[in-house]
Amino acid sequence: MKKIAVFASGNGSNFQVIAEQFPVEFVFSDHRDAFVLERANQLRVKSYAFELKEFENKADYEAALVELLQEHQIDLVCLAGYMKIVGSTLLSAYEGRIINIHPAYLPEFPGAHGIEDAWQAGVEQSGVTIHWVDSGVDTGKIIQQVRVPRLAEDTLESFEARIHEAEYRLYLEVLDSLGVDRK
Ligand code: GAR
Repeated sequence: MKKIAVFASGNGSNFQVIAEQFPVEFVFSDHRDAFVLERANQLRVKSYAFELKEFENKADYEAALVELLQEHQIDLVCLAGYMKIVGSTLLSAYEGRIINIHPAYLPEFPGAHGIEDAWQAGVEQSGVTIHWVDSGVDTGKIIQQVRVPRLAEDTLESFEARIHEAEYRLYLEVLDSLGVDRK
């Protein structure tokens, strides 16, 4: 049985959808005040939070993450709104076992503002991508992606909401396809 951990920095709606369907060993947040930690409490999922600024450098911060992952014998790390670039310490220990969700149809609109950037560019469609994490920014091998149309009557908010709905469906599908067992 594959054990998963979820990393999230803020709201945690993707985490919640995952945790409702799959056993999540723990959720990690790089912000101690992130709303995802409240969701974890509600769902009775173990959570950890610490911040990069509490460490000497990123290598030490990521070494603490590697330790957590090893302690819990995690097979797959699911990034879901984890807004840091994965550095070499975490990558060298877990490359090939970290996936990320991105709210655009990569390689279109990489980076921290995939939804807004697609909206500003006036695209007729954007999408959602789940990919393996490598040392680039949103460059790893794509596992699965889905198109999401922008409708004539859309506002940024309604467009964003449709992207998020597509994210929730795609994350569950990809976890199924990677052989993670549901609850
Ligand atoms: C999601 O839309 C996710 O794709 C995005 O952050 C949001 C987190 O929402 N991630 C990135 O932009 C990574 N580059 P959530 O915290 O409610 O799941």
